[in-house]
Amino acid sequence: MTANGNTGNLRQPRRILITGGAGFIGSNFVHHWCDRYEDDRVVVLDALTYAGNRANLAALEERENFRFVRGNICDRALIDAILLEEQIDTVAHFAAESHVDRSILGPDAFVQTNVIGTFTLLEAFRNHYPTLADAGKDGVFLHVSTDEVYGSLGADDPAFSEITPYAPNSPYSASKAGSDHLARAYYHTYNLPTIITNCSNNYGPYHFPEKLIPLMCINILLGKPLPVYGDGQNIRDWLYVRDHCSALDTVIHKGKPGETYNVGGNNEVKNIDLVNMLCQLMDELAPDLPVRPSEKLITFVKDRPGHDRRYAIDATKIKTELGWMPSVTVEEGLRQTVQWFLTHESWWKPLLSEEYQAYYQKVYAH
Ligand code: NAD
Ligand code: DAU
Repeated sequence: MTANGNTGNLRQPRRILITGGAGFIGSNFVHHWCDRYEDDRVVVLDALTYAGNRANLAALEERENFRFVRGNICDRALIDAILLEEQIDTVAHFAAESHVDRSILGPDAFVQTNVIGTFTLLEAFRNHYPTLADAGKDGVFLHVSTDEVYGSLGADDPAFSEITPYAPNSPYSASKAGSDHLARAYYHTYNLPTIITNCSNNYGPYHFPEKLIPLMCINILLGKPLPVYGDGQNIRDWLYVRDHCSALDTVIHKGKPGETYNVGGNNEVKNIDLVNMLCQLMDELAPDLPVRPSEKLITFVKDRPGHDRRYAIDATKIKTELGWMPSVTVEEGLRQTVQWFLTHESWWKPLLSEEYQAYYQKVYAH
């Protein structure tokens, strides 16, 4: 058997725990895994915070090999029980507080979930791991992280690689950096088979409305202002979420324990250009918009404190060592995403709750 639980060319069914599986990327990953590996046991652990939505998994609820557990990754007793009862051999850890603007308003939950929660999971897996070894099985603990841990790039700087020093600038990225260090240390100190991925900005189905792309899509549909922070010249590298899921699948099956893999879309775009692309797509695809052309709604607003100027990912390692590359261009991915928001009003409308409106007021009141 290889380090990742594969015997020769025959794939052994896995028993996978997916934390944060009701969130944006987590739920896309749960769908990816269930579609692809029908014989695997899939257990989702999610606290269903404001960002978690069980409706994202509705199509899977009746599946025999699927279980949803509502619970917190800081709850050690619960995690111990799940690992033991379910004989988990693979952990894909997505659960996190993930929004930079919320981390500026209130960092506590970020330290709690991202640092203490990851520590709690690692400790539980360390305790559980010998039972896998006794059963002749290997395991993987995939820690899903972000390019934001590397800080901010200047216009001419080379893209982030796996050896770029960490320089987080927001409470969110600092808490993710802390969790990455713990995942790394558990490999070196305890020989736990942890693997870390640092990925760029995702977009696609089930993206919670507070993030840039869904927020712009929904505001265009509602005829509301499109708030662009600062001068709109900040750059992000956009990756279609389904490509991210295929990268994580590749890392689980072929990645080397103790390693880090950067994942990116090779799609660096300025925020203002991205918003203009969304406006054009909406103008083309949406039959009755309250305001046309949508670009009339663009409004420059006060900048985010500590706003990182540019992110860019050098994804050479995952390409050369594991053979993964993104398959969707930003033009194709944005078109599919706009179509998705147009046809899923029943998904996003209920998310514009009182809590969401209160959050929106706090961030955009100025
Ligand atoms: P998200 O905010 O959409 O979802 C997070 C999920 O975690 C939610 O379902 C939430 O209910 C759950 N959760 C939060 N706290 C929890 C706790 N204490 N216990 C159990 N569950 C809890 O986040 P996302 O955008 O899907 O990001 C998933 C992961 O990927 C995060 O670790 C994030 O740092 C990382 N990441 C995100 C992006 C991106 O562009 N969104 C890019 C790179 C990496
Ligand atoms: O880079 C990976 C990260 O991408 C992930 O780790 C985070 O979990 C994810 O939220 C995302 O972080 P960003 O801060 O880059 O994403 P967000 O969608 O919040 O913002 C994208 C860019 O758009 C950023 O430069 C800020 C800007 N922006 C955002 C919002 C919400 C605006 O100009 N206006 C807005 O209203």
